[in-house]
Amino acid sequence: MTGRPLYRRNPDLLLEWDEDAGAVLVDCLRWRKFSAKAPLVDLLHHLDGPLSAEEAHARWQGAEDAEDTGDTAGVEGTRKLLVRLAAAGIVQRCDKEHEKEGEEGDGAPVRGRGSGLTRYELAAHAQAARGPVPHARQGPPPPARLRHPGTTATVPLPEDPGPPSRPLSRVLEQRRSVREFAPEPVPLALVAAVLDRSARVRGYLPPRAYEQTQRAAPSGGGRHSLEVYLLARDVGGLDSGAYHYDPFAHALHRLSPWSDNLSDLQDRVLTTPALMAAPPPAGLYLTSRAARTGWKYEGMALSLIYRDTGCLMQTMCLAATDLGLASCLTGRMEAPPTAPFLPPDEHDVLHVGNLALGLPSPSPSVPVPAPEADG
Ligand SMILES: Cc1cc2nc3c(=O)[nH]c(=O)nc-3n(C[C@H](O)[C@H](O)[C@H](O)COP(=O)(O)O)c2cc1C
Repeated sequence: MTGRPLYRRNPDLLLEWDEDAGAVLVDCLRWRKFSAKAPLVDLLHHLDGPLSAEEAHARWQGAEDAEDTGDTAGVEGTRKLLVRLAAAGIVQRCDKEHEKEGEEGDGAPVRGRGSGLTRYELAAHAQAARGPVPHARQGPPPPARLRHPGTTATVPLPEDPGPPSRPLSRVLEQRRSVREFAPEPVPLALVAAVLDRSARVRGYLPPRAYEQTQRAAPSGGGRHSLEVYLLARDVGGLDSGAYHYDPFAHALHRLSPWSDNLSDLQDRVLTTPALMAAPPPAGLYLTSRAARTGWKYEGMALSLIYRDTGCLMQTMCLAATDLGLASCLTGRMEAPPTAPFLPPDEHDVLHVGNLALGLPSPSPSVPVPAPEADG
């Protein structure tokens, strides 16, 4: 005997508000959009578990409204509506008969299930894969250089003294996340060299009006939205505090002295996430001025910002390794950012990651595997 067809809401639907179209249902896996009138949303609300057409009709407040508009009439009308919604992929058949046939909604392949990603993450990925929106690149691009508000002093950084570099192949072999640091301050010259080698602006890419810069780490479209802040708890030759790195002038802009707030921030974004026994002498706090990337790539900007962050993080880790520094990334992000040195009213600032820096502990409790000797 054939059982009654059962339906449930497509679990990949998100509801968004469009300025012109009103409520819109977005299938975040297949990236299809459907206009969502109130009775339909009400029906979908009831369909979070398998329901037959009869059960759905009995629960659906909108059934009468739908009948009034002539869309559907009685249980038969609800049944026909469910069949149409299943064909469109807005609801799915979920009865045994249907599973035997091996169909899934409208038959389109479904990717992403079991990926460990939420609907929002899948939606962001699907949106990024569609590329920038058509109206991107309007008006002048935001400047590549941030003149940081709240600067109280400028500390010019020493030019890279050029400690002998190891061969790249050795640096790549030796890079490790190290979570224990020597008790001594980390010398400013070494922190400056990490910044110089990994984040300093080397020039502009044409056309100049696009505000695209060239640096050691690549960046989608040369937009370089990332700004680097130094949490200097114990940096030799530098007053403790928070600083913004100006990658154009190779200078630090002092934003605030060390404080309990900075200690707390350091704990939240570095010491605790990396399970460190003691706070690192220095930390780099990475933010994105999202509008720089968004100007050119709105629609896929966040994905580019995350990928830019990975490029910069790895470049910084390699520079630190080459200079003999211990470093450890943390992926902790605060949204909205809480760093006390950030301007409170700028809404395009994203906190995207962190890097602990220091001299390596001479007696690490977790030994860093020694690379095999040359030859
Ligand atoms: C994006 C990213 C986020 C990370 N976040 C953390 C973190 O929050 N805490 C931590 O202890 N390590 C973190 N790490 C470091 C990884 O744990 C580390 O790279 C991994 O264990 C491999 O060890 P290795 O770096 O020594 O090769 C992160 C690494 C990356 C790339």
